[in-house]
Amino acid sequence: MLPQELIGKSGEIGYESPSNIALVKYWGKFGRQYPRNTSLSFTLSKAKTITNCNFQFTDKAVSNLDLAFTFEGTQNQKFEGRIRKFLLSVQDEFNWIPFVKFEIESKNTFPHSSGIASSASAMSALALCIIHIHNIVEPTPENEQLKKASHLARLGSGSASRSVFPTLALWGEHPDISESSNDYAIPFHEGIHPIFHDFHDDILIVSKKEKSVSSSAGHQLMENNPYASVRYQQATQNISDLIKCMKEGNLDEFIRIVESEAMTLHALMMCSSPSYILMEPNTIEIINKIRSFRSETKVPVSFTLDAGPNVHVLYPKAHKKAVKAFIDAELKAHTEEGEIIEDQVGLGPRKV
Ligand code: PMV
Repeated sequence: MLPQELIGKSGEIGYESPSNIALVKYWGKFGRQYPRNTSLSFTLSKAKTITNCNFQFTDKAVSNLDLAFTFEGTQNQKFEGRIRKFLLSVQDEFNWIPFVKFEIESKNTFPHSSGIASSASAMSALALCIIHIHNIVEPTPENEQLKKASHLARLGSGSASRSVFPTLALWGEHPDISESSNDYAIPFHEGIHPIFHDFHDDILIVSKKEKSVSSSAGHQLMENNPYASVRYQQATQNISDLIKCMKEGNLDEFIRIVESEAMTLHALMMCSSPSYILMEPNTIEIINKIRSFRSETKVPVSFTLDAGPNVHVLYPKAHKKAVKAFIDAELKAHTEEGEIIEDQVGLGPRKV
């Protein structure tokens, strides 16, 4: 039962929350969405989800939830089903959920079906709204709220735990980082060289098609991957090495580690059983061209990949002009309909 004074109370809350791009990848999970290794990501700024939630506390619990969801202005059964399943799955911690009538609207700033995974931005925006409501039921100290939101976002989508924090976020226990946790991400920008605070990430959309193998299935396949344990050790070492070079502002080392992480992620897919490939021929063309351009011009541009064919082109802000000219002349032709999202490291979620 809800406390009597809450019944009938209503309100509205909205959050916009960005996507993030992992530099050291989370790939492999166990238990209730715990990561097999530590990951570190840039929080982006333009690729965002904006979620608005109207809520009203009632005196009767609805077992399958009283929820209406619209995505980009229209009812969306598939997404509504996912949100319902997620909210039902966290009732053990948020036991007021069945007593609330929810009307949730959501939209993305990036084109729908651009091949960009929106689970990190969507789940973090939703988690922030839910934590706002939770705070009415059970006030939480301000410094605990983001931690709680990160924890809740994680239960929706592991990588979403990192979108709650600005600039750079780290998720998963690491032997050298005492505050690190499998439960939630932590902000990680302190002491990082300023060159990384406004790093650019131009996302080249190679294919807008839905992925043939989902991330959940990919994580699952790591359980029988013969290289899994070596991979988790490598990720732990890469975290230490990447943090060191990001503190020093060492771009050569940054590029070496970040590109190796992207290639490792896709190599793990290729040696899973069953094996699969998410890169497209154009992904490889772009990677080769970036490497040649870097070696010829010494412009410190690099790439990383998500679990998909699209390429994230990473570089310091000062090189924007040179990289833009290069992308227009050489890379754009390898994208689907010239689609590029010119993003950069950002300041994290915002109440709207
Ligand atoms: O959060 P999930 O379950 O969609 O997994 C994301 C996995 C990668 O994007 C490939 C890596 C990462 O750390 O974000």
